[in-house]
Amino acid sequence: MSENKRAAKLEIDGKTYDLPIFSPTVGPDVVDIRKLYGTAGVFTYDPGFTSTASCDSTITFIDGDKGELLHRGYPIDQLAEKSHFLEVCYLLLYGELPSPAELEDFESRVTNHTMLHEQMVYFFRGFRRDAHPMAIMVGVVGAMSAFYHDSTDISDEWQREVASIRLIAKMPTIAAWAYKYSIGQPFVYPRNDLDYASNFLRMCFAVPAEDYEVNPILSRAMDRIFTLHADHEQNASTSTVRLASSSGANPFACIAAGIACLWGPAHGGANQACLEMLREIGTPDRIPEFIARAKDKDDPFRLMGFGHRVYKNFDPRAKVMKQSADEVLELLGVENNPTLQVAKELEKQALADDYFTDKKLFPNVDFYSGIILEAMGLPTSMFTPVFAVSRTIGWISQWKEMISDPQMKIGRPRQLYQGETLRDYVDIEKR
Ligand code: ACO
Repeated sequence: MSENKRAAKLEIDGKTYDLPIFSPTVGPDVVDIRKLYGTAGVFTYDPGFTSTASCDSTITFIDGDKGELLHRGYPIDQLAEKSHFLEVCYLLLYGELPSPAELEDFESRVTNHTMLHEQMVYFFRGFRRDAHPMAIMVGVVGAMSAFYHDSTDISDEWQREVASIRLIAKMPTIAAWAYKYSIGQPFVYPRNDLDYASNFLRMCFAVPAEDYEVNPILSRAMDRIFTLHADHEQNASTSTVRLASSSGANPFACIAAGIACLWGPAHGGANQACLEMLREIGTPDRIPEFIARAKDKDDPFRLMGFGHRVYKNFDPRAKVMKQSADEVLELLGVENNPTLQVAKELEKQALADDYFTDKKLFPNVDFYSGIILEAMGLPTSMFTPVFAVSRTIGWISQWKEMISDPQMKIGRPRQLYQGETLRDYVDIEKR
């Protein structure tokens, strides 16, 4: 972050305040208001943080107008095509692409941490059978804070490293077990001879009664889904992890907070909500009715999988995901999948409608991901857990960056208070 020679001038009641301007390596300049309350006695107001940079970071950059997403400078489409998830994890975590030896070492460390402490099985068993897998994940990941005491001292760099590896490694096991529990099948233990995505698929779909062969096409598609969701700078769940961690809290508990935030339909829950919407539409002839509802101000219905807080152009991940959906469905011999047909026609009609183009509402990453996951055999309730597995690396990388930042402070926003002013307590018999 370099301080610009320019300063923003803010005038309040005839008094002028100079606010330093910082220039990022790429992206809009940032006005530094940290001393504003101290000097001018005012707060700024920005619910939803639409104009607020909450931290400085070197991990991910998004240009929402261009529809560009870079991880450590590398564009997401190149990473999705040429790289794979664990290499992207290394890149996000350590800042550079690994050498072959570094990658081998990293993959081996992740692979050797995939098993859960056996007593954690009791946590799964404590849930009702019909619990949503995200509810189980929030609980079980939070419970990790009670199991891995040798990796919770956040002031120790080595312990931070071990906690990071544990989270990347164990998250697929936790997500797959949440699924197995919900369908009443035995838990399948991870296998060290399989790659990350294949291991996850096997833990979801294998049963002890017969052998399970991972389809390499599905494994590649799952790896690409993981890669496309790996990080997205200061989104709601990542900011939740940063805020929770800013108090120095246990890392596993902080990641559980991120999972809780991701669950919401405006964030990670959108892929489940999107597929449910496509199914509800059912046939292309009903699309105009749903588009009309999405445009109706008095109807809370929104086109799920459309729109994004940052992208005011195509979400670059959606393009790769659409291509992936075509490939997977063709290879599985279900290219005439009715949900995919509805999705394609809906995209076409929405993009031809001024309401969506004027408001810059384009398909986001979740518009097509659910179709692929469904074709793989996962129920809608597992879509957001897959997102949580992917985003864990983003949460951890941002958490590690924050903890190592000498400027780190506890996050403590202020407010525009609109409540009662001072008043005296009224005894109950007088109310
Ligand atoms: N369908 C219909 N109208 C929409 C949609 C949509 N999907 N999204 C936004 N709008 C409209 C709003 O009604 C609003 O209209 P107005 O200005 O006339 O009031 C305008 O577009 C701006 O919408 P906001 O909600 O203010 O935009 P915001 O940036 O806060 O919301 C969000 C972004 C939450 C993603 C929103 O577009 C949405 O709800 N989309 C559907 C859910 C979804 O797909 N979420 C996934 C996000 S990607 C991810 O988490 C990986």
